[in-house]
Amino acid sequence: MNIGQQLFRTIWPLVREKGEHTAYCVAIIDQTVLPHEWRIITLDSVEQMVDAIRRMQVRGAPLIGAAAAYGMALASQESPSEQHLQAAASRLLASRPTAVNLRWAVERMMRTLLVVPEAQRCEYAWREADCIADEDVRINQAIGQHGLALLQRLAVGKPGRLNVLTHCNAGWLATVDWGTALAPVYAAFDAGMDVHVWVDETRPRNQGASLTAWELQQHGVPYTIVCDNAGGHLMQHGKVDCVIVGADRATCAGDICNKIGTYLKALAAADNGVPFYAAVPTPTIDWQIADAKDIPIEERDVDEVHIVAGRAENGCMTSVRVTPEGSAAANPAFDVTPARLVTSIITEHGCYAPGRLSDILQLVDPAIHP
Ligand code: MRU
Repeated sequence: MNIGQQLFRTIWPLVREKGEHTAYCVAIIDQTVLPHEWRIITLDSVEQMVDAIRRMQVRGAPLIGAAAAYGMALASQESPSEQHLQAAASRLLASRPTAVNLRWAVERMMRTLLVVPEAQRCEYAWREADCIADEDVRINQAIGQHGLALLQRLAVGKPGRLNVLTHCNAGWLATVDWGTALAPVYAAFDAGMDVHVWVDETRPRNQGASLTAWELQQHGVPYTIVCDNAGGHLMQHGKVDCVIVGADRATCAGDICNKIGTYLKALAAADNGVPFYAAVPTPTIDWQIADAKDIPIEERDVDEVHIVAGRAENGCMTSVRVTPEGSAAANPAFDVTPARLVTSIITEHGCYAPGRLSDILQLVDPAIHP
């Protein structure tokens, strides 16, 4: 994505030392300080990558997957032994539980690495991680084009702008580039469509208000931030033409696990006849899970509910407590929208009725999606 005059991905390898054996580190954009600060940090070890994923300096299911792949590359640089790689894989797998892209990427890296001699593992690891990152970019561009066709159909005969509502951040920042839910929006805007985005703030971490708003602004797409509870009202008043969300994990039956609050948007959309689309890259489909109830839902620190962080008028980052001392709080980070509430799933292979999502299995490489 273009930031200023420069093209950026959200993650990329950097040469740290040149010589007989080139060593790499991994650069990321620290998403915990956006939109107030543009900060690029470098990670030198798998442990630093685990920490960056856990602290959500990198976040969003596809980016977590790419980050885990680069984490495995850092691990193989530390030591290519099977014991070290297994330990690194376990640490990465435990960093965040819900986005299945993480497990998919770690397992793909392990399958690639364990079959080559130790001496070649490091080189293979960087190559495979780059491959996963490049694939993510291509997948999201394809999702953008398939989603664009949906938006163009919705716009036929509709006077004025097309209003898309989105929840959380499933844009450029949540992937390596382009985003999933926002890829169709960028494609529509770039094609000259009059598109506007309702951005749910997405408490408690405010990924909508801080990240989605920021990246739409960078691209010039018109948007309006609304509090999480406004969507139903907007839909009742005909102000939403469709909802597009991303996913952290989809079941073969088309159930969509995404940021907490997505389910309520889907209920409101169904009640108001508003199409509800989920943008789902193939690595986000969990082919193993039979029942969406078995998806592990991350429970995050309750301080995220009690305490709101932001920038004070003096320009410094600050945080304030908004709840009475001693209050109990709970912080489930994701929920599941049942397939019956989903109008269509936008994938890189095209748009699927939720019940037909498993048709994708015929199209994918079994070596990559076993
Ligand atoms: O907790 P986060 O910020 O990692 O959650 C992100 C989301 O819920 C996104 O909607 C999802 O990962 C899809 S990203 C393309």
